[in-house]
Amino acid sequence: MNKKELVDALSPDTDPAPLFALADKIRREQVGDGVHLRGLIEFSNHCRRRCYYCGIRAANAKVRRYRLTPEQILDCARTAVSLNYKSVVMQSGEDLHWNPKELASVVEKIKTTTSLAITLSVGEHSKEDYTTLRSAGADRFLLRFETSDRRLFSMLKPDSNYDQRFRCLAWLKEAGFQVGSGVMAGLPGQTAASMADDILLFKELDLDMVGIGPFIANPDTPLGAAPNGSLDTALRMVALTRIVTRNTHIPATTAMGTLHPQGRQKALKCGANVLMPNISPTEHRTDYSLYPGKICVNEAPEQCAGCVDAMLAGLGRQRAEGFGHSLKQV
Ligand code: SAM
Ligand code: FES
Repeated sequence: MNKKELVDALSPDTDPAPLFALADKIRREQVGDGVHLRGLIEFSNHCRRRCYYCGIRAANAKVRRYRLTPEQILDCARTAVSLNYKSVVMQSGEDLHWNPKELASVVEKIKTTTSLAITLSVGEHSKEDYTTLRSAGADRFLLRFETSDRRLFSMLKPDSNYDQRFRCLAWLKEAGFQVGSGVMAGLPGQTAASMADDILLFKELDLDMVGIGPFIANPDTPLGAAPNGSLDTALRMVALTRIVTRNTHIPATTAMGTLHPQGRQKALKCGANVLMPNISPTEHRTDYSLYPGKICVNEAPEQCAGCVDAMLAGLGRQRAEGFGHSLKQV
């Protein structure tokens, strides 16, 4: 699809039903009916940056900061194994306390004591640090570029640099990670043309994974009064990303489930093939509040597992076999 076709498909005046049906068909042909479950470990909410949209930004004094110990992270990984998840995603703010060597040693312990695949989502680091983490055994890395619109990026991320973000994505690839990126949909000032560019960029970067979530305004951030993104736009983005990028892994994101009780189910029906059930310790979940109303904050990991299995059964889908590695490299 070219840019004009993408812009037209993103317009609320276009009936999304044929688009969603096509994305669902391509999803079935390219990645099958299986849904990969990646257990999400939110291991620190300390962050040095001040992204205007993000609830755990450094300047938000209301956040009760926490940091899991290596042993607590290992416990989460054991929980993932007990729930028969094949991989974990370790996510945090940009927490300088975790020097990459220490993080690498936690990764190494998980890799030597379990068969889990590990995805890291820990923000921007040096090329050397990415290499250290990859050498320790981390398989994948998620780093959303958030928006392809350079001007919007610098407004929303006042202490990040657009070119550096993309340099990090290139370094991750060079280090041998399976690389995921993504954006928020419905950011203040974001246009359909820039979302079409986002999708074309997913293709150009040849990503292994693409995560898309609606922007949800957090009252404790500078964008607190901005309108939320719409679920409809985020779903169109998912469907178009599936159509354009074919066999990438695409999650039905927590932000979609937060905007609508059926948000994740809808995403699984228009292109998504991954879910990321939370396996963080329940006592810290409310402190990882990127946006208000986040789902699954009161549930224990076992309850989230039961919930996603029931969701899949309701959709006539099932857990996917295997680790859910990239389909680009086979
Ligand atoms: N610090 C790492 C980074 O920046 O890549 C990883 C953690 S960051 C909290 C994870 C993602 O949360 C961001 O990439 C962003 O897209 C999303 N996010 C943050 N605030 C959000 C909001 N208000 N609404 C929707 N998504 C949000
Ligand atoms: Fe932490 Fe943006 S506020 S990376």
